[in-house]
Amino acid sequence: MEEPDAKKRKSGSIKEQVFRGWKKIPLPVRAFLALSACVGIVLLFAGLLRRPGSAAGGGAGPDVSGTGAFEAESAAEGEGSETSVSGQPEITGGDKKEGSGKTDASGGSKAEGSGKPDDEKTEESGKSGGAKTEASSERKLRKLVALTYDDGPSNATPLILDTLEKYGVKATFFVVGRDQVEYHKEALIRAYNDGMEIGSHTYDHRILSKSTQEQIWETMWKNDELLKEVIGFQPKIMRPTGGGINDTVRASIDRPMILWNIDTLDWKYEDKDTIVNTVKAEVHPGAIILMHDLIETTGDSTWQATAEIVPWLLEQGYELVTVSEMAKAYGYTLQPGGTYYSFNPLWSPDAELAARYYQAFGPKEP
Ligand code: NI
Repeated sequence: MEEPDAKKRKSGSIKEQVFRGWKKIPLPVRAFLALSACVGIVLLFAGLLRRPGSAAGGGAGPDVSGTGAFEAESAAEGEGSETSVSGQPEITGGDKKEGSGKTDASGGSKAEGSGKPDDEKTEESGKSGGAKTEASSERKLRKLVALTYDDGPSNATPLILDTLEKYGVKATFFVVGRDQVEYHKEALIRAYNDGMEIGSHTYDHRILSKSTQEQIWETMWKNDELLKEVIGFQPKIMRPTGGGINDTVRASIDRPMILWNIDTLDWKYEDKDTIVNTVKAEVHPGAIILMHDLIETTGDSTWQATAEIVPWLLEQGYELVTVSEMAKAYGYTLQPGGTYYSFNPLWSPDAELAARYYQAFGPKEP
């Protein structure tokens, strides 16, 4: 009978001992320990709330959760106290906005790191944004895609531009000089002034892989001269006609050759729904989508499809940017004579960026 009592007394006395021990610790130290525990609990909960699984709302969901995950990572790795400390409140602000509605892009575009496509567009259009904006957009998992239009300009071009302007997005036009730029100068000027990227698609749509080096130089040179005359700009990128490339082409072309990895076959089917469905089925961050703004080969299909594709992509959280902008944002350096089919962030030369995207999109994306 005595033993259990003794045990009880002992166990009681252990609590008392702990309590007395705690009281022996000087008050400031106790206060500090208690505070640390509180802060730890708060941070733990904040961390849990940002886990990818918890952000279930809407198409922009992956963006936001991905951003949060990376933020947490960078904080843990201690990649500069600026990002981890000052970055967190900004992101929280962005998350809140995300929930409350997508409309007020202008409000938070300058400094805040919200994951909204609208915000990022504002950043892009204001290219003078500076290092601060660039740094914050680099931390985001941006879903970029590039719409490209070949063989124009034609009567379809202004109709395509109507949509691009309406949504404030960018695309890239690989233009042909002969008959197209020559007769549709206004469309080209409008595209250029809108901030669309203009690439060369040769002067006469010559098949380069069946041409001599002199012929390749000539058709490139003539197109450059015409474009300099019309818009005062010489394209920095080009797309070989029909995608045909051989050693002669590689040795003759002095700028990056941009191909594509999503072919809408708009010229073949002249069918709006085929174009729309192809894009919906195949799109992924870094994709280069091939279409044609030559109304003679695609009819009305391409400009009508564009009017459907653009808002749909935006709803999915995509930003529609130019080819060069997407390459840069995903860490690719365009080389003269190099060939590029896409700028998939999963295969970015920037290993850190690739790892972040793999974490967010890897298992799902091609
Ligand atoms: Ni072509």
